[in-house]
Amino acid sequence: MSELSNMGEILVTGGAGYIGSHMCVALLDAGYTVTVLDNLSNSTSESIAAVQRVTNRTLDFVADDLRDAGALARLFGRKRFAAVLHFAGLKAVGQSTADPLAYYDNNVVGTLRLLEAMTAHQVRTLVFSSSATVYGIPDVMPITEDSPPGPINPYGRTKFHIEQILADLQATDPAWRISILRYFNPVGAHISGDLGEDPNDVPNNLMPYIAQVAVGRLPGLRIFGDDYPTPDGTGVRDYIHVDDLVEGHLAALRYLERHPGLAIHNLGTGRGHSVLEMVRAFEAASGRTIPCEIVARRAGDAAESYADPTKANRELGWRARHDVRRMCEDVWRWQQRHPQGYRA
Ligand SMILES: NC(=O)c1ccc[n+]([C@@H]2O[C@H](COP(=O)([O-])OP(=O)(O)OC[C@H]3O[C@@H](n4cnc5c(N)ncnc54)[C@H](O)[C@@H]3O)[C@@H](O)[C@H]2O)c1
Repeated sequence: MSELSNMGEILVTGGAGYIGSHMCVALLDAGYTVTVLDNLSNSTSESIAAVQRVTNRTLDFVADDLRDAGALARLFGRKRFAAVLHFAGLKAVGQSTADPLAYYDNNVVGTLRLLEAMTAHQVRTLVFSSSATVYGIPDVMPITEDSPPGPINPYGRTKFHIEQILADLQATDPAWRISILRYFNPVGAHISGDLGEDPNDVPNNLMPYIAQVAVGRLPGLRIFGDDYPTPDGTGVRDYIHVDDLVEGHLAALRYLERHPGLAIHNLGTGRGHSVLEMVRAFEAASGRTIPCEIVARRAGDAAESYADPTKANRELGWRARHDVRRMCEDVWRWQQRHPQGYRA
């Protein structure tokens, strides 16, 4: 692990995407050397350019697919990575139900190819982007890492299968150091306003949707259900600023230096906010009105979902710092400066 202490080179799969690009900023700012592998299936190389602008540093960008064993062999053959941060994957729940094979192929097979390349080149330190979707619809809040898994859609099952593959691998070869981070609801953008979430299609997630309504790209927000057993009847989620999330990854890297094995941590704030609370917070941050319409509940949505982040607080020495107001302000800055995303 001395490579990590010496700020060795980190491979970031999916580093052109929303969370991965913010991760690259944090890594470069912390002094790491970074290589990104991304096939740009849900991103553009403009985000890489933005990372380099805001950090005033360069990274090595490789536009290849994770499932391309030859490309991985060439990459691992020419570089000695200290660790891999594995963000690459497809993440749209609805799409995963419509085309499960594409999700298993991209997420599970892609991860297998990566693990094979890492094994072949003796790189055995990995941080994996898992998700609170592995918990499905839990009965008890807040959600701890011991809450029983029970994903209810193909996307969530790809994450859960990958977690099991990682556990099997680590059990077979104890030299592996694996951190599984289960994210709650990442939102927010880089403080510069030059880096943010840029969905290809109509956003699946609440925050980018609200932001696109505020900026005039979408006419209004449909809220799925206001009759949940929550304080105002709308669904409650644990929103976490992307900067806090990437800090959690740096903390996980430091943790792995001291702890071989496999560890699972929730990354959330531990606080739930309702859809209506988020709408009001975004209206306050933007000064714009968000037209809302209440429609029927959506199948598969939990009434509430929020983390117990105690384990990450204690073991990683990490804690989410940014509140909802800051999340909304940063998203609004990004959205105003880039109303059409990176493509504009
Ligand atoms: N954003 C969320 O709400 C959320 C929540 C929990 C977990 N996650 C997980 O975090 C990770 C990053 O999410 P994000 O929001 O940044 O998504 P994103 O779509 O913005 O980024 C993912 C990146 O991976 C790339 N990619 C996908 N398949 C690839 C492949 N086969 N080869 C190479 N590159 C590939 C895409 O082009 C994209 O740039 C994903 O694994 C996602 O499942 C995200």
